[in-house]
Amino acid sequence: MIERAQHLAAEARDAVHGASSTADLEEVRVRYLGRKAELPQMLRQVSQLPAEERGGAGQALNEARRAIESAVAGRAAELEEAELVARLERDRIDVTLPGDPVRELGRLHLITQTRREIEDVFLGLGFDVAEGPEVDLVHYNFDALNHAPGHPARAWTDTFYVSEDVVLRTHTSPVQIRAMEAAPPPLYVIVPGRVFRPDSDATHTPQFHQVEGLAVDEDVTLADLHGTLLAFARATFGDEREVRLRPHFFPFTEPSVEVDVSCFQCRGTGSVDGGRCPLCKGERWIEILGAGMVDPNVFGYVREYGYDPERIQGFAFGMGVERIAMLKHEVPDLRLFYDNDVRFLEQFG
Ligand code: PHE
Repeated sequence: MIERAQHLAAEARDAVHGASSTADLEEVRVRYLGRKAELPQMLRQVSQLPAEERGGAGQALNEARRAIESAVAGRAAELEEAELVARLERDRIDVTLPGDPVRELGRLHLITQTRREIEDVFLGLGFDVAEGPEVDLVHYNFDALNHAPGHPARAWTDTFYVSEDVVLRTHTSPVQIRAMEAAPPPLYVIVPGRVFRPDSDATHTPQFHQVEGLAVDEDVTLADLHGTLLAFARATFGDEREVRLRPHFFPFTEPSVEVDVSCFQCRGTGSVDGGRCPLCKGERWIEILGAGMVDPNVFGYVREYGYDPERIQGFAFGMGVERIAMLKHEVPDLRLFYDNDVRFLEQFG
């Protein structure tokens, strides 16, 4: 019995090593260790042997079984490893290959594209980009921007009020104050962002976007504002553009101006093919933004942050992102930006 067990163990080991797949190996295991296999049956008969033979036989049979089990386990690990490697090799796919059919990439919304283009121009001129909250205090949206208590823009018909002293910001100008509170001069920032007003027609949506600009330094003049906006106009609408400033009024700038760019459709002539230019309506100029020199009263609200109106001056401007995009891409209706009809969106970028 002992000899037979040793013989079976040796035979099984050879069979185990000869197994070429896990399925093969399982067959070998069943052949030598399965319920009806010879060795397990012999083990079951040990109890019937004469007492003096039981110990030796039991030990030899168990040793043989353990030897076969460990050979099977070792070979199983080898085969599983090899099969895994083979499967990985076979199933390898290149996830960087284009799909089939190739999927079209999405594109940035025209407002996002335009905002980024505006940011790029001013980043190139040395401005930083800052942001502020869309829901802001009346203090930042109106008071610190020198709006008199009865200023019409404060009316509940012109501003979305969240509570008596909290509004959806009506412009990005409140971030002028926040930016000055956050850092002393010299300060050169632009502030892109969403703004809100209760208006809705072909040229107004209750939500739109602005980019604010603020430059504060020891000798900033209106000529610097003009030069900065000329660089912007040329980068955005073409190298031949000119810029003109017309007197205007904003509570927080003095003097205030509206800024026009020479029409890029008629090249500032007012006519196209003998007829009136459809873009500027023959005016030769197109309004693009509001601006001015920061009112000293505004600096009064941030004096403690290093803004002494006796020492520093600044210019500020604010433009509508949708307006710039409409002019540049001849978009006829502001609401197209928010309908999100893919036939519209796909035309840009
Ligand atoms: N905040 C003004 C508006 O929304 C624009 C502006 C900004 C004017 C900065 C002057 C200076 O109409």
